[in-house]
Amino acid sequence: MAQQLLEVRNLTIKFGGLVAVNDVSFGVDAGMIKALIGPNGAGKTTIFNIVSGVYKPTLGQVFFKGVSIEKLPQHKIASLGLSRTFQNVQLFGNMTVLENVMVGCHAKFKSGMIGAVFRLPSMLSEERKIREMAAARLEAVGLEDSASLPAGSLPFGKQKALEIARALASEPDFLLLDEPAAGLNSAETVEIGKIIADLKKRGITILLVEHDMGLVMNISDEVVVLDYGKKIAEGTPREIQNNQAVIAAYLGEDIEQMV
Ligand SMILES: Nc1ncnc2c1ncn2[C@@H]1O[C@H](COP(=O)(O)OP(=O)(O)OP(=O)(O)O)[C@@H](O)[C@H]1O
Ligand SMILES: [Mg+2]
Repeated sequence: MAQQLLEVRNLTIKFGGLVAVNDVSFGVDAGMIKALIGPNGAGKTTIFNIVSGVYKPTLGQVFFKGVSIEKLPQHKIASLGLSRTFQNVQLFGNMTVLENVMVGCHAKFKSGMIGAVFRLPSMLSEERKIREMAAARLEAVGLEDSASLPAGSLPFGKQKALEIARALASEPDFLLLDEPAAGLNSAETVEIGKIIADLKKRGITILLVEHDMGLVMNISDEVVVLDYGKKIAEGTPREIQNNQAVIAAYLGEDIEQMV
C-alpha cells in the first residue's frame, strides 16, 4: 500500500451555528492527485484552511507525514513541506513574475526579506541563489519567458500558473490547489491541467479543489465529494461519475455531460 502523506480524520469545524465541515475523513497517498469536489459552500476551501493551519478544527485531526498538525501554526506546517494556492489570485501585480516567486523563496533563506531589501553584501550571493531557485520554479510551470514582465500584465491563465510557481517556492512535496482553473477558458484549462499532471510526475502529491469536471476527471486518481460539509462519496473518477448521491448533490446536472 502506498504511503499516506495526508490524512484528515473526523474533521469538524463550526462557525457559530453552521457546521461547515462535518466529520470528514479521507487520506491522500504519496504521489497521487486527489480531487476534493462539491457544490458551492460545501466546505472545500474550509478544509484547505484547516489543513494549512489558517483555521483550527472544532474536532478531529490532521496528519501530515504521520505528524499531527492541526494545532501547529501555518509556517510550521509549511516548513514540513505543505504549500497551497488561493481561490482568488493573490499576486503582486506591479512586481515582476520572477519577483513574485522570489517572495515565496525568501522564507527558505536565513536573511529573509530585510536582508534582500537592504542588499547587504553578504546577502548578495543568497539573493543570487533565490533568483536561480525562482527561475527554476517558473520553468516548472512554463513561465520562464515571462520572468521580467509585471505579473499584472499576464493573461489570467498565466497568472494562475504563476500562483502555482510561487506555491512551489518553498519546495513542497504536497500541494493544495484551490480552483486552479477558475475563470480560465478551455485552452487555458488544458494548459493548467498539463502543469498539474507534470507536478505529479515530479513527485509532488496534490489535493485539488476544482469545479471544472473535465479537468477533475481527467487528471485525478481519486475524488472525494463533499456536500453541506459532509463527505458523500469517495472513489475513482469513474465511480464518482456514476454515484447516485453525487448526481443528486449536483441537482441533476449530468456529471457525464460536465466532463
Ligand atoms: N470564516 C468563516 N466564518 C463563517 N463562515 C464561514 C467561514 N469560512 C467559511 N464559512 C462558511 O462555510 C461554508 C463552506 O465554505 P467554503 O468556502 O469552504 O466552501 P467551498 O466548498 O470552498 O465553496 P466554493 O466552491 O464556493 O468555493 C460556507 O457556508 C461559508 O459561508
Ligand atoms: Mg472555495
